[in-house]
Order: sequence, then structure tokens, then C-alpha cells
Amino acid sequence: MRHLMNPLDFSVEELDKLFDLANRMEADPARYAHACEGKKLATCFYEPSTRTRLSFEAAMLNLGGQVLGFSDAASSSASKGESVSDTIRVISCYADICAMRHPKEGAPMVAAERSGIPVINAGDGGHQHPTQTLTDLLTIRSLKGRLGGFTIGLCGDLKFGRTVHSLINALIRYSDIRFIFISPPELKVPDYITDMLTEKDIAYEEVIRLEDCMPDLDLLYMTRVQRERFFNEEDYVRLKDFYILDKAKLSAAKDDLLVLHPLPRVNEISVEVDDDPRAVYFKQAKYGVYVRMALILTLLGIEE
Ligand code: NCD
Repeated sequence: MRHLMNPLDFSVEELDKLFDLANRMEADPARYAHACEGKKLATCFYEPSTRTRLSFEAAMLNLGGQVLGFSDAASSSASKGESVSDTIRVISCYADICAMRHPKEGAPMVAAERSGIPVINAGDGGHQHPTQTLTDLLTIRSLKGRLGGFTIGLCGDLKFGRTVHSLINALIRYSDIRFIFISPPELKVPDYITDMLTEKDIAYEEVIRLEDCMPDLDLLYMTRVQRERFFNEEDYVRLKDFYILDKAKLSAAKDDLLVLHPLPRVNEISVEVDDDPRAVYFKQAKYGVYVRMALILTLLGIEE
């Protein structure tokens, strides 16, 4: 039985197969409409979510399967003190596969150790968010035609943003990638990441102003400031509007830049940017459904 805890749980070759499958699903959804008939996906969400939970559910429904679950810890037995290990043992009796989001780093991993069904980490605290990373990689591969050979700017809350940490980890396996980390000093990417890049001899730069690197970028990954992971509201309020991508700033960018965002957006991208063909964050949300469809099928071991 296989789980997904970290994007690196799949090799580059396995990811290519997964993305090929996702692209086939996009091209011919009807062919997969009954692939998971009789199967159930449990979504166990101990932390708020719109996209991740609903895209998992949409993915399973698109495959002809069914869904059950809870969307908030308060409405589960966690509020009575049940451990994730016990919860997953029980869920294993009800469902065939589980997507779990938890505010504590490592909780889905603990669940996977006791689970009788595949567990997918749908975000654990500030740690990892592997299915968002699969979504990001599929979006880049589908729209750029390749993974590798580009300069990517990651902008915003690089300290607490788990999507950023997961994406960097996954991208370093591709060749010729240069990272530009754009953040206020307080929200810099953690040292363990820059140390890892230095050790692997991967090029990166850290800048504060988005304007300073805009013309160099092939990809711009915007993120929101992660309010719920701040220790005090004052710091959040001071930093929340540090970056606002608008048309004026985008005018200095390449014509084939892609602007990605895992969403939800707060203020960091002005709505006037949404109509620019380089803004692909809503397309990205759609790729999130195809990649989760491919992942469910793969983890359940269902042949095409
Ligand atoms: C992200 C997350 O939950 O980390 N959202 C998502 O799943 N698309 C990003 C965020 O909350 O900022």
C-alpha cells in the first residue's frame, strides 16, 4: 500500500506518468467517469480549506466514486480527544482512500502508519502540501511544455508557506532551475532550505523588491501571508500588504511569464491582473482536479 506524504515520494519518472495520466483525463474525461465506481474517498480536514477538499471530492466524483468526511476538527471526534491514529483505523473500515489535512506537522504521517488504506497528506501545518505541488508541477508542465530550464520567483510568505516549501523541494530534481526568493526579511525562506540549496549547488537569490527581478522571471509564484501561523496580529497587519502585484508591475515582465498562486488570494494580486493571459491561477485550480484524479487512481492501483 502506498501513501503520499511528500512530493518526493514519487520519482521523477513516476511523476511524469502521473502527469501524462492527468493530461489524458483532461482531454477525455468521459473515459474515466466510472473508473472508481464502488470506491469511497474520505476527506478528513482538521483545518479550513476550500480548494483542496472540494477538488479532492470533485476528483473522486468525476471518477464515479463517492465521498464522505468532515471539514472541521470541531465536528469530528478529535474534539473529544481521539488521536489521528485511532480515527484513521476507524476510517479504514469505511473508505478506500483518505485525504487528510491537519494543523500539526507530521499528523498525516502518524495516521499513515496505522492506516489500512492509502493516506494522502492534504497539508500538514507549515510543513508540506504535496498535492498542491503536484498541481503546480502539472500546471507548469502543461503550459510551459517542460519542467526545468527556468527562473522562478517565489514571492510573499516564504517562511510559513507550506506550498512554497513543497514546491522548492520538488523542483530541485529538475535541471537548470534558478530560484529567486522575494520576501520581507521577516518572512524569508527557512535556513534549512537555503542550506540544502547551497549544499546541492543550486542557484538562488534573495531579494526584497518584486520590481528588482520581474524582467528575469519565467514563473512567478505568489503566496498570501499565512495569518493563522503568526504569533501576533500586529506583525501580520504590518506585513500583509507588503506585495501587491498589479498591472504596472507586470508590465516589466516577459510576455510568456506564468503567474501562479495556490489560492486563496487575499490582497497580493490585484484583481485587475486576472484578465492578463499570463495569470494562470484559476487554470491552476482546474489542473488540481485532474492531478488528484490521477493520484487517486494511481494510489488505488486501478489500471486504466
Ligand atoms: C494553500 C494551503 O492550504 O497551504 N491553499 C491551498 O491548498 N490551495 C495556500 C494557502 O492557504 O495560502
